[in-house]
Amino acid sequence: MRTWKKMSREAIRGRVFKALDANVDFYNHGSIGVPASHLDEKVFHRDASFLKEAPFLSALLRNPNHIGCHTLGKSESFFRGTQAIERELIALCAKDILGADPNAVDGYVSSGGTEANMQAMWIYRNYFMREHGARLDEIAVLCSEDAHYSMSKGADILGIKRIIVNVDQASRRICPKSLDRQLSEHKERGIRFCIVVVNMMTTMFGSVDEPDVYAAALEQMGMAFMMHADGAYGGFVLPFTEPGHALDFRNPLIQSVTLDAHKMVQAPYGTGIFIARKGWMAYANTKEASYVEGEDCTIVGSRSGANAIAVWMILMSYGRFGWEEKMEILLKRSSWLENRLKELEIGYFRNPVSNIITIRSEYLNRDIASRYGLVPDMHDSPKWYKVVVMDHVSIDSLIPMVDDLAAFSRKLLPSV
Ligand SMILES: Cc1ncc(COP(=O)(O)O)c(C=O)c1O
Repeated sequence: MRTWKKMSREAIRGRVFKALDANVDFYNHGSIGVPASHLDEKVFHRDASFLKEAPFLSALLRNPNHIGCHTLGKSESFFRGTQAIERELIALCAKDILGADPNAVDGYVSSGGTEANMQAMWIYRNYFMREHGARLDEIAVLCSEDAHYSMSKGADILGIKRIIVNVDQASRRICPKSLDRQLSEHKERGIRFCIVVVNMMTTMFGSVDEPDVYAAALEQMGMAFMMHADGAYGGFVLPFTEPGHALDFRNPLIQSVTLDAHKMVQAPYGTGIFIARKGWMAYANTKEASYVEGEDCTIVGSRSGANAIAVWMILMSYGRFGWEEKMEILLKRSSWLENRLKELEIGYFRNPVSNIITIRSEYLNRDIASRYGLVPDMHDSPKWYKVVVMDHVSIDSLIPMVDDLAAFSRKLLPSV
């Protein structure tokens, strides 16, 4: 069985260079049949001596294209070396983070969380249409008001409806009454199939949905559904801060999950991750991609193999225990901030297993928000501002903000 064990810098370097060497070599005798090459040598020189110590930068220069999905069997043979690293990454995320048998899932590194969520919606829309004869106007994406806007974007692009359920404003949990009302109204209007997106930590609040609440309501209503978990924010957090959660492949309700390494993993942009149980990628297969070896089941098409390498390198340099420690530190800092807010009697929301703290807008002014780069829920008339406790957000860096919040709450700062 594979385990997520920390690797030395040297071992990581060796593994990546070996993988790059197993790809087509555009510098020496590369294929002449593909519109692909290394990065332009006039601008991106490869003779810098530090490159020997820099596997990720070398991967960028050699420029592997990871088009397609490499867990399915057949893929472009030009880039077989680095595709193997992507497969390892998907297996690691599936098994060591999301509780799946790595042989029971497929997945790929997407352009981001938006694409991974849309990939899920695309798959289930096509499934309902192909297997159940559903019409577009009978299918809806069902999610909470705290879900990321990619669900609205996806529904719009896919030509399906959206059903947005209210959450309780204090607990940020789904309101069962709102869910029942929305489902019965939409059923009357002809919706028969739902693509449920459950939040594995929301963008603004770090709140987590309960899949059973959706499942019970949909079953009661006699509506067919498929369920996807959006872990773009929480996918690298919740599994470590609340190991018993219900949003991964241990739960038979969950068919697919989005992760996003360009958030908490601090990987380069372009490192969303989509993982689904085996069998589902076929519903996104574009047969017309006939010139691509193995065809294409992804939204994105061509994509940089360097991205998968970057995520793999980061995760392997921590190992499971290193990652758990990192999350513990972030939670500790978040709890420190939460305790200060409590002492100051400032209104906030925090899920105790998350590193997001969301402050009610009446407890600060725009000046404080802009000084510390706090992000509002909406720019026109914000009700909330959030603090995301990332690696660079130390307790020392939080102290000046807490001091300003304290001064504001004592009315020492003007309220504009
Ligand atoms: C919960 C959640 N889902 C999806 C996304 C979209 O991710 P991306 O910006 O990588 O497309 C975000 C981004 O903040 C998010 O927080």
